Amino acid sequence: SESVEQMIERLCVKIPDYPEPGVLFRDLTPLFADAAGFRRTIDALVDAFRGQFDYVAGIEARGFLMAGAVAYASGVGLIPVRKAGKLPRETFREEYVLEYGSAVLEIHTDDVPRGARVLVLDDILATGGTLGATAQLLHRAGLHVAGFGLVMELTDLRGRSRLGGHRVRALYRV
Ligand code: PRP
Ligand code: HPA
Repeated sequence: SESVEQMIERLCVKIPDYPEPGVLFRDLTPLFADAAGFRRTIDALVDAFRGQFDYVAGIEARGFLMAGAVAYASGVGLIPVRKAGKLPRETFREEYVLEYGSAVLEIHTDDVPRGARVLVLDDILATGGTLGATAQLLHRAGLHVAGFGLVMELTDLRGRSRLGGHRVRALYRV
């Protein structure tokens, strides 16, 4: 029967020159739309880090899709890592560069007790700018990065090298 890697490969659509010339964009919405594909993806992320985290953090926007499901399945709480200007109370802020532009991420300073182990979830690891900024935010809040869980890793972009010694598990590497 089909492995989770094979499901991700089958249900990922490649779009040349989106959102700008030279980028081959990997679109995972068909995977998320497939009931078995989504369930197998979430189960694989839960299994990879079982017992190793107290909270999950989900990165806006596509990381929210993974984080809500993994948090529910694991019985833990969730930290939304948001794009600039969306959180209403005091935040930590980190600016970062990604494959096609730059942006700012924020977290609330005091939603979670210091010392907690946080599993960071997103759909795709590209340059690592987004996950690197997220690790900085968590460190500033006194939290431990339990690891990074991804659906897909674009290995050409060498994002993993920007993530320090943290554990990285990508279900499908291309
Ligand atoms: C994409 C993707 C990751 C990030 C990966 O999100 O969902 O979060 O880029 O790129 P990097 O490894 O080079 O940082 P995007 O910023 O496009 O935002 P979205 O989820 O709101 O679409
Ligand atoms: N697909 C989806 N998200 C991304 C990509 C991609 O190819 N590169 C950076 N973020």
